[in-house]
Amino acid sequence: MTAEGSDFVVVANRLPVDLDTAPDGSRRWKRSPGGLVTALEPILRSNNGAWVGWPGVPDVEVEPFEDDGLELVPVPLSEREVADYYEGFSNATLWPLYHDVIVRPVYDRTWWEAYVEVNRRFAEATSTAAAQNATVWIQDYQLQLVPKMLRMLRPDLTIGFFLHIPFPPVELFMQMPWRTEIVEGLLGADLIGFHLPGGAQNFLYLSRRLAGQPTSRGNIGVRSKLGVVQVGFRTVRVGAFPISIDSGEMDEKSKRKSIRDRAREIRTELGDPKVIMLGVDRLDYTKGIDVRLGAFHELLLSEKVDPEDVVMIQVATPSRERVESYRHMRGEIESKVGRINGEFGRVGHPVVHYLHRPIPREELIAYYVAADVMLVTPIRDGMNLVAKEYVACRSDLGGALVLSEFTGAAAELRQAYQCNPHDLDNVADAMMAAIEQDAEDGRRHMRAMRRQVLAHDVDRWARSFLAALDRTGEDTAPTQLV
Ligand code: ADP
Ligand code: G6P
Repeated sequence: MTAEGSDFVVVANRLPVDLDTAPDGSRRWKRSPGGLVTALEPILRSNNGAWVGWPGVPDVEVEPFEDDGLELVPVPLSEREVADYYEGFSNATLWPLYHDVIVRPVYDRTWWEAYVEVNRRFAEATSTAAAQNATVWIQDYQLQLVPKMLRMLRPDLTIGFFLHIPFPPVELFMQMPWRTEIVEGLLGADLIGFHLPGGAQNFLYLSRRLAGQPTSRGNIGVRSKLGVVQVGFRTVRVGAFPISIDSGEMDEKSKRKSIRDRAREIRTELGDPKVIMLGVDRLDYTKGIDVRLGAFHELLLSEKVDPEDVVMIQVATPSRERVESYRHMRGEIESKVGRINGEFGRVGHPVVHYLHRPIPREELIAYYVAADVMLVTPIRDGMNLVAKEYVACRSDLGGALVLSEFTGAAAELRQAYQCNPHDLDNVADAMMAAIEQDAEDGRRHMRAMRRQVLAHDVDRWARSFLAALDRTGEDTAPTQLV
């Protein structure tokens, strides 16, 4: 960043690195969890941009610093703000509301006030970090008020917003006591991106109904046919841009000898089972970890699978551990793992291997290469990058993907064993079909999914969004608005 600021600024709740305190009290930066960082970090590094975000721990004031060509601009949060803005409004109100109210959202006025206050602080930090006429790209549900706040501070900026989680059905969104403020906050952007056309369409409807703005009525396409909201003299565009991964990099790494050897070693360590099933998630109630454990349990009980032949590995990164619904879910999942192992394991041979920790990237790739069946069973997920990572790692065309219909990825990975996570029999059937798949069918399915994932990588996602954002300044033919 120069003294005049950066020309390209990403704003996200978290920096791509978290400040971690070791047991001896020393501090170091480590990679932040989740799909957003996985998706954006490579793009920013290759653009020499700035990233505005929270360092992941309360009450630390850190000056902006450079990390490998990337300017990091920390926004401090107090202990109280972490509780009210992050754990409260972001993760106990918005997160469950936008994920089909799997857990009941809590509507709390104090949390809302903290959300407004922290969004203002992000807008101010961004306003300082951005050069004249810069492009600013705001990310995700934690910062939905920033577009409008930033536009008021800096009308010269081009502002994009992308929502990484599902945008809910209108009937659910209408529960939100501050629904109009949120829609108006987002409408401060020049371009608002969602994963799927359905989310974009819902937002257009709400712009008419809540903000009273005229909008286009035609269907929205994938990376095409943007919708339009007219806000006074400004034209706001709305579109669908499904996110992806650095598929080339994962493909390349998965072919390395060291990874292949490690994958073989993992199988040996597990006692050479016929089938390895794998789940990789943040420990979140949206991910349906309980669903896949339940379906596996039923298959074991009905003796459709033999515990000597099939093992399941579940790797779960700790997440949002102070939020009550997350604590509760952790207890349920761990008791389910204990129950299955108690009923079907032997000494030295558990059926479910459960790791409650993040694992290093290369080790994760080796797990993907080793897994015969990948289990991705969310109740609701905006996209789900894990499904795409698995496919990118299977250049051998081996493996099978069990994929919930309620993920964004299901719209692209049509050849997966798709299932309805609300229907346990259906999930168990999909698992069985994946376990017993004919090798030639499996290769055909994997080839088709790989074509999709390798052609549509994260770079294409970012380029298509930023190209559309770039065009928002141009005069376009007037659309029929009603
Ligand atoms: P979300 O964004 O909700 O966490 P995604 O599936 O879209 O879900 O992205 C999760 C990202 O975090 C992926 O890149 C995945 O590889 C990574 N990840 C998830 N769990 C682990 C884990 N236990 N160890 C290492 N990486 C993980
Ligand atoms: C999802 C969200 C991100 C979030 C990530 C990790 O990917 O879309 O915005 O950063 O989960 O969650 P956390 O609460 O730890 O930041």
